[in-house]
Amino acid sequence: KVVDGTRVFSLTAQEGVTEFRPGVKTRTWGFNGTHLGPTLRAERGERVAVEVANDLDEPTSVHWHGMHLPPEMDGGPHQEVDPGGTWRPTWEIDQPAATLWYHPHPHGATEKHVYRGLAGMFLLDDDASRAADLPDTYGVDDIPVIVQDKVIDDDGQLELEDDTGEPGTLGDVVMTNGTIGAYQEVTTERVRLRLLNGSTARTFQLGFADREMDLVATDGGLLDAPVRLEHVRLAPGERAEVIVRMEPGETTRLHSFEADLGGVVVPFAMGGNDAFDVLELRAADQLAPAPEPAWEKSVHAEQDALHEDDATVTRTFELDDRKINGRSMDVGRIDEVAEVGSTEIWEVRSTVPMPHSFHVHDVQFRILSIDGDPPPPELAGPKDTVYLEPSTTYRLLMRFDDYADPDVPYMYHCHMLMHEDDGMMGQFVVV
Ligand code: C2O
Ligand code: CU
Ligand code: CU
Repeated sequence: KVVDGTRVFSLTAQEGVTEFRPGVKTRTWGFNGTHLGPTLRAERGERVAVEVANDLDEPTSVHWHGMHLPPEMDGGPHQEVDPGGTWRPTWEIDQPAATLWYHPHPHGATEKHVYRGLAGMFLLDDDASRAADLPDTYGVDDIPVIVQDKVIDDDGQLELEDDTGEPGTLGDVVMTNGTIGAYQEVTTERVRLRLLNGSTARTFQLGFADREMDLVATDGGLLDAPVRLEHVRLAPGERAEVIVRMEPGETTRLHSFEADLGGVVVPFAMGGNDAFDVLELRAADQLAPAPEPAWEKSVHAEQDALHEDDATVTRTFELDDRKINGRSMDVGRIDEVAEVGSTEIWEVRSTVPMPHSFHVHDVQFRILSIDGDPPPPELAGPKDTVYLEPSTTYRLLMRFDDYADPDVPYMYHCHMLMHEDDGMMGQFVVV
C-alpha cells in the first residue's frame, strides 16, 4: 500500500508448518506465511518503507540483495532484529528495473535461515523496462522462479547437514517457489521467467532440452540486447531473466543440467553431475500473441554507464577455502574504505579448486574481463554476484555513488552460505 507517497510493506519472519508432500508436515520458516515470502514490487524513484518483524526465537535480519541503498538500511549483520522486535528501513529506489531478492543475513546463521525458507523476490520497474516490450503480467506471462535444493529426511523434515563437505548441503530435491514438481500453465506465446538461485550451496545450469531461450536481464537489470542461449549457469544469489517461446498445446520443462563448474576438483561431489526438473510449462491450446523481445541498445546508458577510465582504485581479493585476503569476518573490523563518487576495479580470484560465488552489497558491477578476456554475453550485464571459477581472475568495475557513512559498513562475501557463515566475508565503508 502507499502512504503519503511511500510504498509500505510489512514482513514478519515466523515459524510454520508446510506440507511439501501430501500429509507430511514439515517445520519451516517464512515471511508472512509458513514458507518463503511475498514478492515485493516497487518503481524506480519511489520511496519504500518496510516494517520487518521477527516472530522467531532467535535474531534474524532482512537484507535487500542487489539494492542500492544506505548502509543502515542494508539489513546485514549490523541490522539484526531481536525476537519480538521490529526494524523499519526506508529508502528511495534509485536504480534500473531488476529482479532482486531479500533474505536474512544474521551473523553466522544465514545458511540456516535461508534454508528453512526465509527468502522472497523484490522486483523493480522503470520506464525503460516497460518500453522493452517484455511480458510483464505477473503470474501470467511474467513468472518468478525461485530455485532451491533441499534434503528431506525420513520424517519429511528439511535437513541442513552439519558435517557436510564442500560446498555445503546439496539437496536431492529441487523446489521451485517452494513446490516440488512445480508447473505453470502458459497462455501466451512467450513467457518471461525470472530465475533466482536461492540455494545455499548448489550451482544450477538452467535451460530446456528442446529449445533455446533469450536472456534479457542479469542480476541488476536489462542487457544491452537479448542473448539467445541454451542454458545459463546460476550460482547461489545470481538471477537471470529469460524469455521462452511456446507452441499451442505443448509441454516442456525447465531443467537443471549437469553444471560446468570450471576447474573444481571432483565436480560430481560439488553437485556438478546432478540434473533436475525445475518447472514444467504447459501451454494452452490457444496462445495470445506476444512480441519478440527487442529494445534500443543501451536503454540504461544515460545514468548508469560505468567507465573503466574513471577507475581510480584497484583492489585485489583472494579467496581461499574460507578466507578473503587471509582474513575471516570480524564485525568490528573495516576491511576496505571507498570514497563516495569513486569508480573502482575489484580483482577477484579464487585460489582453491572449489566453487565460490562472490557478492558485493550496494552496487551493481560490470565484469570487465575474465582472465583477461571479455566476459561472455551472459556475464556482460549488470551483476552483483558472480560464480568464481577456480584460479581465474574476474575484474569487476563498480562505482560508489552516494550514501557515505564512515560508521556503518556494507558486506562483500561468498554467497555459498556455509562459507559466508564460516567467515568468508569482509566489510567496506563508503566515506
Ligand atoms: Cu544475498 Cu550479503 O547477500
Ligand atoms: Cu546482498
Ligand atoms: Cu565460497
